[in-house]
Amino acid sequence: MDSENRNLGRQVFGKSENIGNILDLESINSLICEWVPNEKLRLHIYQVGNLMKKWAQKLLLPEVDVKKWEMAGLLHDADWEKWPELHCRKIVEYLEEKNIDPEVIHAIASHSPSFFGVEPVSDMDKMIYAFDELSGFVHACSLVRPEGYTGMKVSSVMKKLKDKSFAAQVSREEIEDSSKGCSVGLDELISFVIENQANVTLPDTQK
Ligand SMILES: [Fe+2]
Repeated sequence: MDSENRNLGRQVFGKSENIGNILDLESINSLICEWVPNEKLRLHIYQVGNLMKKWAQKLLLPEVDVKKWEMAGLLHDADWEKWPELHCRKIVEYLEEKNIDPEVIHAIASHSPSFFGVEPVSDMDKMIYAFDELSGFVHACSLVRPEGYTGMKVSSVMKKLKDKSFAAQVSREEIEDSSKGCSVGLDELISFVIENQANVTLPDTQK
């Protein structure tokens, strides 16, 4: 992957007149179904969607914002499998064409600043950046444990983070940088991820 090619080259997405415009869950699910045949990627998408939803609820945000956070999580990697060269650009442009809320599009565009060149600004931006790599890492930890997520401890995830040969593709720098960026300690983030993605499965229509 060449980070140069992924740079979106701008910081502004969507139009302010579209604030509040989101897709309903049914439309999001059918888009994921169409764009993401790979079940592993789909599970990651639903895990990040759930983490974003649960964090927004923890912040006691209004229901409309909870839906925005969830939507950003669910769509952040929607274009990755079918358009790897256009990853992020494709989904951003699709949502702009659909006149979707600019805050949702900005969050998706900033989920990996080193690739897309978009700095996280809002809380939604900062949390999607914080959850993306960490979600994948915690899931990787669950796959090497016979008990999966059951009994998983924050300390054992921290230990695995230090072992650079484990899940080597997961960027430790991004995990550290994003934790600093959202001012939430890594311990708290890991604990939240373990608790809130252990039971995430694909929707019935996608099994
Ligand atoms: Fe992701």
